[in-house]
Parts: sequence; structure tokens; C-alpha cells
Amino acid sequence: MEAAAARVAELPGELKYIQYEHSFESQYLPAIRALISKDLSEPYSIYVYRYFLYQWGHLCYMALDPSDSSLIGVIICKLEPHASHSPPTMRGYIAMLAVSAPYRGHGVATALVKMAIDAMAQRNADEIVLETEETNIPAMRLYERLGFLRSKKLHRYYLNGNSAYRLVLLLKHIDPDAAVDLALDDMEMIPR
Ligand SMILES: CC(C)(COP(=O)(O)OP(=O)(O)OC[C@H]1O[C@@H](n2cnc3c(N)ncnc32)[C@H](O)[C@@H]1OP(=O)(O)O)[C@@H](O)C(=O)NCCC(=O)NCCS
Repeated sequence: MEAAAARVAELPGELKYIQYEHSFESQYLPAIRALISKDLSEPYSIYVYRYFLYQWGHLCYMALDPSDSSLIGVIICKLEPHASHSPPTMRGYIAMLAVSAPYRGHGVATALVKMAIDAMAQRNADEIVLETEETNIPAMRLYERLGFLRSKKLHRYYLNGNSAYRLVLLLKHIDPDAAVDLALDDMEMIPR
């Protein structure tokens, strides 16, 4: 994790929130990689970014500085049928989320996550899942504030040996008998 960077007291005006498009690759992919890899315990190759952005660019949003269109925050997601369940559910997945350190604490990530949730809900997602390091308090707080629940603890999930939580946001009304078909099927009672 990055050491505390000097935070800006205010955002530089109204940020521009835009959906990713393939034509942005040369302009923004290097900045997206740099922003995300800064805080990752394990860096992703360019192919991982392309895997998500080529197929689900419409579920990726960027927050840009209005003065020079530089990247301040990004969220990358995917949405696909979860075929191991019958009938298959539509499962959204938040793969990456990062906000540039000086701009944290101003609601940028909250805005990006809400946009991604809306985009996946519009495309009929039943649920949205993600994993986050158990020590990542800002991320845990943010997601739980938005209604995500802890569904599972993943012991020693990351290369650095840290454990993770799988978090799930249920978007559809749950029939208790059908809950086994959603990510809640691996729900455990996790002490906070
Ligand atoms: C986790 C991370 C994305 C959060 O980004 P952020 O932009 O600071 O998040 P937000 O500002 O939306 O929320 C953080 C806090 O700011 C507060 N906040 C301040 N102004 C706000 C506003 N105008 N609107 C909403 N929230 C605001 C929120 O209440 C929130 O406080 P709380 O969660 O402690 O109660 C960021 O710390 C980061 O990039 N970390 C490194 C990468 C990472 O860990 N990614 C997540 C991996 S799963």
C-alpha cells in the first residue's frame, strides 16, 4: 500500500466521469495500469487489462480531471452468466478499482462504483461480487456502505499471504429457496 500522499482539500471542480471506449486505449490504458498497479500486491499483465476492456469496456468508468482530462480514478468490471448454477445467474464482478491517492476521500470511488452497479443492473445482473484484502479498510467500508455483504473469507488469497473477503451485492429480490443459486450459497457467518 502506498504511503499517505498529500491529499487535495478539494477536487479540481466537477470531475468528468466517462465510460471507457476502445479508442481511448493509447491515451488511457498506460495511466489505468499505472494507477491500479500502484496499490496492488500482485501486478497484472497488459493482457489482463485487455481481457476486461475489450469485452466489457462498457462496464469500465473513468474519473477525469476537468482541466487536463488526466486520470483520477477508474473502475473495471465484467458481467457474464455464472454457469455453475442452475439456472445460470448473471454475475457482475468488480475486478479493479483505484483512485489517485491525493484525490481520495472525496467520493470519487463511491461515484465510480455506483455507476458500475447501475450499468450492471441495467444489463440484468442478479448480483455483483468482488474480492478485497481484509486489511483494506477504506475499500471494505466503501463497499459495505453501498450494501455489499461479506459472503466468504478467502484465506491467504493473495500472493503476499494476505486473506481476502468475497463481498456480494444482491440486486434481485431473493426468494429464500432460490438463494442457493446466488453467491449467498457460499455465505458464512463472518464475525466483523
Ligand atoms: C479504496 C479506494 C478506491 C477509495 O477511494 P475514495 O475515492 O477515497 O473513496 P470515497 O471517497 O468514495 O470514499 C471514502 C470516504 O470518503 C468519504 N467521502 C468524502 N467526501 C465524500 C463525498 N462527496 N461523497 C461520498 N463520500 C465521500 C466517504 O464517506 C468515505 O468515507 P468512509 O468510507 O470512511 O465512511 C482508494 O482508497 C484506493 O484507490 N485505494 C487503493 C486501491 C484499492 O484498494 N482498491 C480497492 C480494491 S478492492
